[in-house]
Amino acid sequence: MPIPFDAFADLSDAEAQARIRAARERLGSQAVILGHHYQRADVYRHADFTGDSLKLSRLAAQSTARYIVFCGVHFMAEVADILSRPEQISILPDLAAGCSMADMANLAKVRRCWQELAAVLDVEETVTPVTYINSSADLKAFCGEHGGIVCTSSNAKKILAWAFAQREKVLFFPDQHLGRWSGHQLGIPLAQMPVWNPDLPNGGLSVEEIRAAKIILWHGYCSVHQMFQKPQIERFRAQYPEGKVIAHPECNFEVCSAADVVGSTETIIRVVKESPPGTRWLVGTELNLVERLAEEVKPEGKIVQFMGGLVCMCSTMQRIDPQHLAWCLENLAQGEVVNRIEVPPHEARNAKIALERMLAAS
Ligand code: 13P
Ligand code: SF4
Repeated sequence: MPIPFDAFADLSDAEAQARIRAARERLGSQAVILGHHYQRADVYRHADFTGDSLKLSRLAAQSTARYIVFCGVHFMAEVADILSRPEQISILPDLAAGCSMADMANLAKVRRCWQELAAVLDVEETVTPVTYINSSADLKAFCGEHGGIVCTSSNAKKILAWAFAQREKVLFFPDQHLGRWSGHQLGIPLAQMPVWNPDLPNGGLSVEEIRAAKIILWHGYCSVHQMFQKPQIERFRAQYPEGKVIAHPECNFEVCSAADVVGSTETIIRVVKESPPGTRWLVGTELNLVERLAEEVKPEGKIVQFMGGLVCMCSTMQRIDPQHLAWCLENLAQGEVVNRIEVPPHEARNAKIALERMLAAS
């Protein structure tokens, strides 16, 4: 019988840390802990490997551990399940750790969009569906079935180029900002990247707009990254003209255009770490990452500032706390699996096609 979570809910942080360490020792190489860069510090420190979504997908595909414990959000644990071998088990320590952006698109709405586009275009011949990895497995499966592909924030430009090599148009979901920025990098004019509002008939677009579009952008966004705005960059530049600005491509177009560098979480960390001693950075991404990076580069005299005026944390990823991690690991150490993430086989098959296209193309 699994130990219920109630027995862990009131553990002090220090007790939870000690029990994580003890359970990990018992599990040895049977378990690997993967941690996304936004994970809170008291969990991140236990990760065997950390990374952005692309790196973590590759690690999950290569792992030989029986248990892949994903300290991230739901779609990441789904990807680990899809890309790992059937006997491996993917675990998300708190099932409530979702992604609000991923929830902005669902299969029913994407299917309706596809049908509405089909009334105007020969969709199967002219549109490649591209889903950001921040999406549910059934949307990845939709892309797999319709000649489409998955992308992450670190390979979106390359993946769009792949998509255009297949067909002349792209339907991109759920993050409009990543789609717009990546399309812009390929030289596509903003006017040819209209936004599809899934709550309006025909996405709120006219037949002419649909025909003229190169990329149709889903009306989705990240609630964390939408907090970053261009005036924050302008104020920083006025105060520190020598300072540098780096932003995640989930930020809006104005922010990305005003930044010196735009990149995934892994890129942000690498670029700041590789910059010359004494550089001052304004960073537009989630707070846990920014605070950790600021501490790491402080000894080299680098100053890392957070772009937001408010606390911008990924509140869903934040749910994975030491208590939930200790609970999962202790159960695993006694052979009990809790919080398994298992994608139904028919979805997993097609989602894997779209993910493997991405891994091959990036
Ligand atoms: P990365 O792939 O850059 O880690 O981004 C994941 C994410 O969810 C950012 O909000
Ligand atoms: Fe999703 Fe935004 Fe959290 Fe990334 S930061 S996992 S996009 S809610």
